[in-house]
Amino acid sequence: MKESLELLSRAIHEWMPKNRPVSQAPAAAELEKILDISLGEEGCDQEALEEAIKAYLHYNPDVSQVDFFKLLYSGQNKHALLGDWITSLSNATMHTYQVGPVATLMELELIRQWNKLVGFDDAENQGEGVMVAGGSQANLIGMMLARHHVCPDYKTKGAGGRTLVAYVSDQAHYSAQKAANVLGIGTDNLVAVASDNEGRICAVALQKEIAKSLKQGHLPFYIGLTAGTTVTGAYDPVAVCSKIARAHNIWLHIDAAWGGPILFSEQHRHLLADSHLADSFTWDAHKLMNVPITAAVILVKHAGALNACCSGGGGEYLFHADENAAYNLGERSIQCGRRADALKVWLSWKAIGNQGFAAKIDHLQSIKTDCVEMIEQSDSLEMLAPAVYLNVLFRYRPEHMTDEQAIRQLNIDICKTMMRNGGPYVDYAQYKGCSGIRLILANGEVTRQHISLLLDQCELIGRELVADQLNS
Ligand SMILES: Cc1ncc(COP(=O)(O)O)c(C=O)c1O
Repeated sequence: MKESLELLSRAIHEWMPKNRPVSQAPAAAELEKILDISLGEEGCDQEALEEAIKAYLHYNPDVSQVDFFKLLYSGQNKHALLGDWITSLSNATMHTYQVGPVATLMELELIRQWNKLVGFDDAENQGEGVMVAGGSQANLIGMMLARHHVCPDYKTKGAGGRTLVAYVSDQAHYSAQKAANVLGIGTDNLVAVASDNEGRICAVALQKEIAKSLKQGHLPFYIGLTAGTTVTGAYDPVAVCSKIARAHNIWLHIDAAWGGPILFSEQHRHLLADSHLADSFTWDAHKLMNVPITAAVILVKHAGALNACCSGGGGEYLFHADENAAYNLGERSIQCGRRADALKVWLSWKAIGNQGFAAKIDHLQSIKTDCVEMIEQSDSLEMLAPAVYLNVLFRYRPEHMTDEQAIRQLNIDICKTMMRNGGPYVDYAQYKGCSGIRLILANGEVTRQHISLLLDQCELIGRELVADQLNS
């Protein structure tokens, strides 16, 4: 153990130097040649392990830096990081209270707090939930709950000739497709409903799609809204879609994996003001709350729904009918062994408090506003979508350039050049037929200066690339 702690200390203090390039991994085929990652019959010495750890850290993007703008998380939540280490140290598992007593109580408290924020704890409902291995799994369970709500016998009998249809917007995360596949719904029965110019699901189009399914004799069962779409951060309109869902007895799920934490902020929670109208809700703590991956939850408005949908298959050897039976979370889950993700979320929530998360969101929202202003004031940068949340989708486009393919390639080259130069790490994405640079604001340490520098670099590199093209 002493040796491991020394290694950990050196990893933190020596092998992850501040100001190293955000990303320095070569292409996979090249890295395979540089590194010896073979395993063999005989064990190795400490030195070989040390080299492997050094290489691992060296080539992994440094997501803790303020220049990491690529993904929906960035920075370091030190309380949660400590929690992650302690979680591995104790190696609790979450199927029964007996083998994760404090973790179970922490998970239950987290679920109470999350449900309070979402509004699943009113006079009629006492929400429930269970932590899951990521937003994709939460969305899968959301769809499974919907299937169980509409066809309780699907669990035991299967489809029985019925065609169930699910609806998400054309901006929804691809995990909806995975869920339709895994649950035997069939990906052709997942309808990608048109979104409006702001990237939000179009309620009229949703109604038309439902009517079309009914005419075909199919069974609409699931509407999956998104709060904070992956590419542009749009929030689907909950109230109007909830009316449609109620009229047809369809389960309403909100995928708020990315956009859920807006509920911490008094100033910005209006974007999700109607969250209480949903039946279930996905929240990733490993995105904006910056807890080490994975940490996520599926919240459900109706107590008992998770057990009814997920339990079964025996397990008496684990789930003893003793005085702690009501605290065994395993039957609400689709997993058996489940990592105790509660500790790291709980520790950081305890240390930071609701107000701390709210302050982070308010700060980042104000940086976002500045960022959009800078883009709008530039002659060669343009916004590709409204930025209501923390995604800024923009691009470099010199006035003379109109060919979409050429603009796309130019912006891809800007991202790659910037990264190769050891600068900010941003990525490109498509939205409604146009390509641009997706900038994600998820690190609470980011300042206006970082953004200004990044936009200057985009313009500079863009100008140089265009000049090179004209000269070649
Ligand atoms: C809106 C949305 N939902 C779900 C997911 C999937 O979450 P996870 O990566 O935790 O499975 C993502 C991931 O980016 C997302 O953006």
